[in-house]
Amino acid sequence: MTVTAPGRTDRHYLMCEPLHYTVSYEINPWMDATRYTDRDLALRQWRTLRDTYLELGHRVETIDPIEGLPDMVYAANGATVVGGVVYSARFRHPERQPEGPAYQKWFADRGYVTHTAAVINEGEGDILVVGDLILAGTGFRTERAAHGEAQELFGRPVISLELVNPSYYHLDTALAVISSDPASPQIAYYPPAFSAGSRAVLQTLFPDAIIATDADAVALGLNAVSDGENVIVAPGARDLAAALTERGYRPIPVDTSELLKGGGGAKCCTLEIRA
Ligand code: ARG
Repeated sequence: MTVTAPGRTDRHYLMCEPLHYTVSYEINPWMDATRYTDRDLALRQWRTLRDTYLELGHRVETIDPIEGLPDMVYAANGATVVGGVVYSARFRHPERQPEGPAYQKWFADRGYVTHTAAVINEGEGDILVVGDLILAGTGFRTERAAHGEAQELFGRPVISLELVNPSYYHLDTALAVISSDPASPQIAYYPPAFSAGSRAVLQTLFPDAIIATDADAVALGLNAVSDGENVIVAPGARDLAAALTERGYRPIPVDTSELLKGGGGAKCCTLEIRA
């Protein structure tokens, strides 16, 4: 078992303030449009998350929220950025489709090279960079063909993983990248969210991975953000926090309970910009 975390590295994040946050449609099992959502609480929780990144010394930029796009707060879905190249998102549900071009424009306006996706993919919700590899989810949102598109664009091997539990509809709800250091890549994941074949692939690639418990998964604890040392994690994911501590990481509980009503947590609110 790897007992030492590789150490913190500087990160650059893009976030979107939940100014227009609400649950007005249902596209995943966590969403209930009849339930009351407290936008001010969502805003406070989001600001705490942003401030936590800033206190850790990371750079945070923001994209202006657009009225009528309540899920835009989940910035991770907006694109995938590797080596300064932007693979745009193309959303499955019509309710979220305008978000893809909005995020792509944010990057294009700042001089990034952007690639317009030919295939449905929901950004870092389903496409995660771990060391030299990319892990990519399919089953509910992102098409398997998008994995090939990402591999061709980024020139990195993309490993396809099949999600089977609708509550864990994006890869980042079932698997967290704990260390992206190519010398010591590390993940945490919840095996029941994956098909048998995908579980076997994960076991082969990451034999020392942290295995999340049912309680971690239900708290959306896998929707965590790590800088190689500090790991922002939902407070309810106690087993995951203990496992991280045991391996030399520093779990930092940040409550995003109000944003969980839309089916997202810390990672969903955070798009990493990799130079
Ligand atoms: N309501 C959003 C949806 O269902 C939540 C997205 C969460 N984001 C994520 N990266 N998993 O699309």
